[in-house]
Amino acid sequence: MVTEPIITTRGLTKTYATRRGEISALHKVDLDVAPGTFTCVHGPSGSGKTTLLLAVGGMLHPSSGSIQFLGRDLYAMARSDRAKVRSEHVGFVFQLFHLVPYLDVIENVRLGGGDGSGDDVRALLRDLGLEGRETHRPSELSAGERQRVALGRALVRRPSLILADEPTGNLDPENSVEVLRHLSAFRDAGGTVLMVSHGSDADAYADRVLHLRDGSVSEDASGAPSAVAGRPT
Ligand SMILES: Nc1ncnc2c1ncn2[C@@H]1O[C@H](COP(=O)(O)OP(=O)(O)OP(=O)(O)O)[C@@H](O)[C@H]1O
Ligand SMILES: [Mg+2]
Repeated sequence: MVTEPIITTRGLTKTYATRRGEISALHKVDLDVAPGTFTCVHGPSGSGKTTLLLAVGGMLHPSSGSIQFLGRDLYAMARSDRAKVRSEHVGFVFQLFHLVPYLDVIENVRLGGGDGSGDDVRALLRDLGLEGRETHRPSELSAGERQRVALGRALVRRPSLILADEPTGNLDPENSVEVLRHLSAFRDAGGTVLMVSHGSDADAYADRVLHLRDGSVSEDASGAPSAVAGRPT
């Protein structure tokens, strides 16, 4: 059975114009992401990881090339349709959590949208190990808890795709594993994860590991196909 990719990029190129001239962030990236998979893209600082996620998430217009989301050209559609695709299908998780400091945990999760009941949100928080923290503000939480709140905000609308930008970059190993387990559980339930990272801590959880170097993506450092990593239980 052939499964249609959830994301297809062809010739995806992004060049930033700056006062000092042009900076090439992505250069002709061809990428297919199958639904229900966990893909991790590695790359050093400045290699274009955040640029890739922003473009795939419909938030950054490519300079050239195309991005298809479930077979629809994301940047050929009206801006309002792109926003709709994003809000209906995509959840974001960032390295620095980006929680609203004056809102409590439940209110931060609710910012993700969705029409779930208070019970649904409480159940989600329980799954994320945040029971008892519902009325805490971000400043009253550990870094690991903050990132799990951010995961809750990404998951609450039941997206098809989670885009995660170095979600473990500010966490200790124990909390990193916790976040990676939640991302793999989302994948096991049929969701798709596209994560970027400069470290290799997610490799054991990913179905596919890719490398971004100087704006180009390859299966591994030498260009050879990567093995499918095992999934720890
Ligand atoms: N808004 C912008 N204007 C100009 N140049 C930019 C802009 N955003 C990113 N760049 C440049 O594009 C390149 C890729 O940046 P990007 O943020 O995608 O890298 P990254 O892999 O996410 O890096 P890091 O690991 O440090 O987060 C870098 O050279 C960066 O300086
Ligand atoms: Mg980045």
